[in-house]
Amino acid sequence: MKKAFFAFLCLLITATLTRAQELSQDTALFHQGDDPAWSAFAYNDNAWQKVSFNQSWEDLNVQPTNGYGWYRLHVVIPSSLKKGIVEAIMLELGAIDDSDETWINGHYVGKTGTFPEDPGGYCSEWGKKRHYIVDPKWVRWDQDNVIAVRVYNFGDPGGFYRGAIKMVKPSLKDFASLSLVAEKGGYKAVLATSVKTIGTLKTTVTDILTGTEETSKTQKIGVDSWKEKQISYALVPQKRLTVTYTDPRFEEVLKAEVCSPYILTPPAPATPRYNGPLVFGVRPGSPVIFRLAFSGEKPMKFSVEGLPEGVKLDPDKGVLSGSVAQAGDYPLTFTATNDKGSASAQFTLKVGTQIGLTPPMGWNSWNCWALSVSQERVMASAAALINAGLADYGYSYINLDDAWEAEERAADGRIEANEKFPDMKALGDWLHSNGLKFGIYSSPGDHTCGGFPGSLDHERQDAEVWNSWGVDYLKYDWCGYAKIFNASNDHSEAACMRPYLKMQQFLREQPRDIFYSLCQYGWGKAWEWGAYIDANSWRTSGDIMDTWESLYHIGFELQTDLYPYGGPGHWNDPDMLIVGKVGWSSSLRDSRLTPDEQYTHISLWSLLAGNMLIGCDLSQIDAFTFNLLCNNEVNAVNQDILGHQAHRDVVEDGIQIWSRDLYDGGTAVGIFNLNDSSVPVRLDGALAKIGLNPETARDLWRQQDIATDAEYTILPHGVLYVKVK
Ligand code: GLA
Repeated sequence: MKKAFFAFLCLLITATLTRAQELSQDTALFHQGDDPAWSAFAYNDNAWQKVSFNQSWEDLNVQPTNGYGWYRLHVVIPSSLKKGIVEAIMLELGAIDDSDETWINGHYVGKTGTFPEDPGGYCSEWGKKRHYIVDPKWVRWDQDNVIAVRVYNFGDPGGFYRGAIKMVKPSLKDFASLSLVAEKGGYKAVLATSVKTIGTLKTTVTDILTGTEETSKTQKIGVDSWKEKQISYALVPQKRLTVTYTDPRFEEVLKAEVCSPYILTPPAPATPRYNGPLVFGVRPGSPVIFRLAFSGEKPMKFSVEGLPEGVKLDPDKGVLSGSVAQAGDYPLTFTATNDKGSASAQFTLKVGTQIGLTPPMGWNSWNCWALSVSQERVMASAAALINAGLADYGYSYINLDDAWEAEERAADGRIEANEKFPDMKALGDWLHSNGLKFGIYSSPGDHTCGGFPGSLDHERQDAEVWNSWGVDYLKYDWCGYAKIFNASNDHSEAACMRPYLKMQQFLREQPRDIFYSLCQYGWGKAWEWGAYIDANSWRTSGDIMDTWESLYHIGFELQTDLYPYGGPGHWNDPDMLIVGKVGWSSSLRDSRLTPDEQYTHISLWSLLAGNMLIGCDLSQIDAFTFNLLCNNEVNAVNQDILGHQAHRDVVEDGIQIWSRDLYDGGTAVGIFNLNDSSVPVRLDGALAKIGLNPETARDLWRQQDIATDAEYTILPHGVLYVKVK
């Protein structure tokens, strides 16, 4: 057989069996003994014993049951199976006790298990279904075929007694694939195949926003076996590119689709504009670390009215530092001025017991670098947070996730950073000097998820070390603690809280505020007790991935009942963002979410008051991702000072409507289309379902007022995100 055929065979073995056609066959002919002549098609088996497939050799009184026996199955194989068969068809037999060799019409198709006379001796494979590749030329279509099965059994019961026989037809997908891959200046369609194919490639370009099909083109293409064909397309913004491939021998169609990213939000004006939160909470005496978030042309000069004693402003960077001894609300007026103009914003510095008054906004290393994180990579994202302008929208935390730790603690038990983080204190100081905050990761167990030392029995020491580095945020990940929890008989809520409570006490003893973020994957119902142990947020799910399934599950299934638990100082955390270049390794890729899924993701996190921790490498941020993350009106909903998390109001025909009340009396409403195709939605009709009847609504992504008595097309997995006053 050709090499290609063997490779194809591997492909086929992995094929699903849904295309299986059961060959109606309840009985076979059986003969004890062993004779190679019994494999021949023409062998006269008239005298053989008729047996059914549920009879073992024990049932048939075969004596002794250790030894050989043959089955001959006479089956008609319908030619309806022929359509679409290119080089092979697969024969599936039920499990055989113990080993077998099989022939079809005298052609050997394969063997499972081994026989006593084989070089390595006998080896049973009694539990396995048999899958054998058959060359279609060997099949006698619509006529009698003989499948001859030589069986060796050792020990009771033995034989071929658990089997239906099936012929499985390969599908186009088993040997050919069609994908659209981004390349410089556009996309290329790649049709790769293991067998020769001649078919039709159809390309359609549709306008994403209007749904209008703009161009459609078909072309005949042929590809030889084990070759691929590439066709390049220029990138057209705001278009959906769909390619399909049909080979007339098959029913199914190969399809690939991409939407080129499209930016809905107008660019920020060149004049200063405040985009940050309206409040910031700090405890008396704790360092104030706050960067004024103004977009607009740089350089800019900043001033602040109403600063309390102990706090000073860096007028060039717009960074507040110092501390306030006296609790109280301090109303401040921020002003930023550049060549183009000046703008002011009212703000309240709340010195009191609560921190985390709005959901944390920043960056975390996990979804991009995972275990390959390094100080250099962190600094690159932190620098981009400032230089690319994300800090101008309130992003301020730079959080190291797992893998910053040294493998071992120091002799005195101190936690140390590994060689990839040469100077944690300097990193913290640099972040603070830019008004950014420093986050770190650990586990209440003896090890973290990545296998590094956890804080178990070192809680006080670790909190002190982190304080000395200037840490402002701790993600405390259950991971290694599972061992202790599972070994104990106490699985109560108190037992879930215990390790978190312990660390909370040591964090609070430090002379700085440390945002306390619990990570327990949602199973311990942390939302019911997180606020009582003074945690500032808690994960509500397992780890997010950059797929629609993951986003759908976490966003649309797990958050529905959690709205009563989130609020200022304590937030439900639906996990980190999956836009931009992610990859959980040192090799990053663009998020696999479509542009519309990304709009949905950010809209939903905005409605959910979710932690806005960017998961991509910011040093490679593109214009589309920036547009998603830096829409001041969308972020203002996330940071709304009421902190009312959205409620899911409507679930109807794949459309979900979520809404939340805002402090200015407005309501943010997300109308999500979870269907795989576009859906036209009358905005007034949708809003009426949740008791709202305005004439206009503010489209938050486009930042423009739109009429409600109109129909809007919501793209597949996309959203219409509005604010209604
Ligand atoms: C867990 C967490 C992730 C990440 C990894 C680090 O899986 O849920 O967010 O922190 O551990 O190992």
